Amino acid sequence: MTYCKSNSQVKGKVYGVDFSDEMVIAATKRVKKDIDDGKVELINGDVTDLSCFASNTFDRVFHCNCYYFWPDMDTITSELHRVEKLNSRTNKALEGPRPFSIW
Ligand SMILES: C[S@@+](CC[C@H](N)C(=O)[O-])C[C@H]1O[C@@H](n2cnc3c(N)ncnc32)[C@H](O)[C@@H]1O
Repeated sequence: MTYCKSNSQVKGKVYGVDFSDEMVIAATKRVKKDIDDGKVELINGDVTDLSCFASNTFDRVFHCNCYYFWPDMDTITSELHRVEKLNSRTNKALEGPRPFSIW
């Protein structure tokens, strides 16, 4: 996200998925300019079913502080794998105490 925002040469788009109305509303406020600029699209949906995305769509998948809430890890990892391009990268992050925190 930061990379797409800071580099005007990057033509990519960031998609976010969350099934919480509140989270989507909060995130929409936070990245409104990027949504307006067409750099970000937020989807109120369940990662168990990413059928709104074609297979082999994404160069990167990133999830943070999420997978321990997922009810069916096999289905979701399979969906994430389906929508990723071959040789893409998945980054998983968990918030932790410094110095191990990633932010
Ligand atoms: C602890 S919050 C983390 C939010 C954000 N990534 C962060 O680090 O601040 C976990 C999020 O996962 C979402 N979530 C959990 N299961 C989900 C699912 N099956 N599909 C979509 N979102 C889900 C919840 O609604 C919640 O917003």
